[in-house]
Amino acid sequence: MTGTSLVLLGPPGAGKGTQAARLEAASGFPHVATGDMLRMARSAGTPLGDRAKAYMDRGDLVPDDVIIGLIEERLSEDDAMKGVILDGFPRNPAQAKELDRLMETMGRELPLAVHIKVSREEVLARLTGRLVCERCQEAYHVMTRPPKTIGVCDKCGGRLVTRSDDSPETVRHRLQVYEEMTAPLIVYYGDLGRLREVDGERPVDDVARELLEAIS
Ligand code: AP5
Repeated sequence: MTGTSLVLLGPPGAGKGTQAARLEAASGFPHVATGDMLRMARSAGTPLGDRAKAYMDRGDLVPDDVIIGLIEERLSEDDAMKGVILDGFPRNPAQAKELDRLMETMGRELPLAVHIKVSREEVLARLTGRLVCERCQEAYHVMTRPPKTIGVCDKCGGRLVTRSDDSPETVRHRLQVYEEMTAPLIVYYGDLGRLREVDGERPVDDVARELLEAIS
């Protein structure tokens, strides 16, 4: 991986968080997930978390000003200076333009985007069986990636829960929001020559390998 920051694009359930955690371990670049940051703010009961709650439970995007403030602060932290793996940000063209502006202001390379391609049917199957650790956010699946002990995270021992936005009807709404607001970023980064694509329906290790090849 070069010093360029990476944006993982793809629908809900594409495996962005799963792959970002692996890339973080392989590259040493921090995994920055706006969804995880918002869920932690909610658990901590901060004003930011309270503001984001209703949007997230509906499957709508949290307003740009909230997210951009959050990401600007995170990108300014010491460990993010060498590069970051962005998961869930940017989510629309306005956020993508703001990210480029921030990177330019900070004198950093503009990010490369990787689109993890997954069908709607696969997304529905994955998200309705997903469990996440409420402490470290590691993702599991009741059928395809069960934890060693039921209800307990293999990595940190935290409790595994179903996300409040993983009900079938909210997942369908999130997919619609993705198509309308986020999918245009594939064209945005493609037109700028800063897009790679990988097949997200292959086993996790194969996707990870393809991803590393795509960005090397
Ligand atoms: P966020 O947390 O970003 O959710 P998302 O984009 O909908 O993505 P997910 O976390 O659901 O999926 P993922 O692609 O990370 O998949 P995962 O690796 O977990 O956002 C949540 C909400 O926060 C938004 O709706 C919005 O309200 C708000 N928000 C966040 N960022 C925002 C922003 N920038 N602007 C505005 N609002 C924002 O994998 C899913 C499942 O599949 C797991 O069970 C996993 O084990 C399994 N799996 C993964 N890969 C594979 C594979 N290759 N084969 C089989 N199973 C697999």
